[in-house]
Amino acid sequence: MNKQMNIAIDGPAGAGKSTVAKLVAERLSFLYIDTGAMYRALTYAALEEGVDLKDGQSLHKLLSKITISLNHEESRITVLVNQKDVTEEIRSKEVTSNVSLVSSHEQVRVEMVERQRELAKSGNSVLDGRDIGTFVLPNAQLKVFLTASVEERARRRFEEHEAKGIASDFEQLKKEIAKRDELDSTRDFAPLKKAIDAVEIESTKMSIHEVAEKIIKLAKERTV
Ligand code: DC
Repeated sequence: MNKQMNIAIDGPAGAGKSTVAKLVAERLSFLYIDTGAMYRALTYAALEEGVDLKDGQSLHKLLSKITISLNHEESRITVLVNQKDVTEEIRSKEVTSNVSLVSSHEQVRVEMVERQRELAKSGNSVLDGRDIGTFVLPNAQLKVFLTASVEERARRRFEEHEAKGIASDFEQLKKEIAKRDELDSTRDFAPLKKAIDAVEIESTKMSIHEVAEKIIKLAKERTV
């Protein structure tokens, strides 16, 4: 592959985007950029600082004062806010239930998108999120819209929690995922939406490896 390549993977919560994106990036030796982790990091910082999550201007002010780094240490990726490791904290229930609100503000998104474009310039990369193909990188060489039924996404989340020893309620998870889908796809600015030129992969009956293989094949086809 000679020219720089960006792969955009968008889709609703729990569709397996981050696991797939990480696998694809590893296999192609691309940089993986988890844009959801950046919104989560800001949400964590705002909760810590007691910033009103409905106030886009205050959130923007906070964002302009903090650094958010995605560090790659072998196959582990850590998320740092002002050099503090918050990798675990940004996956908490409190952050998860507030991140859609934080990421709905235009002032927040404009600044985040700038940071994401800057990161994507550094070389071949895979970005996952909600608006990568439609807004962050409209010229990405490959755009994937990854979906799965709400049932299946809740089942995957449930299993993920079980593996980590976190107790969770399946029906509750389903409700939370559906709620996040609704908030992410109905916000005014850069909502979750399939780009017209994205390849849709409906993954309900596919394994993570099958999805990753399909994306790698598509990426290779786009470079010949
Ligand atoms: O992918 P995730 O679940 O970690 O993302 C957390 C939230 O961040 C998601 O509910 C919506 C928001 N998000 C966004 O608005 N735009 C992105 N590019 C990535 C995430």
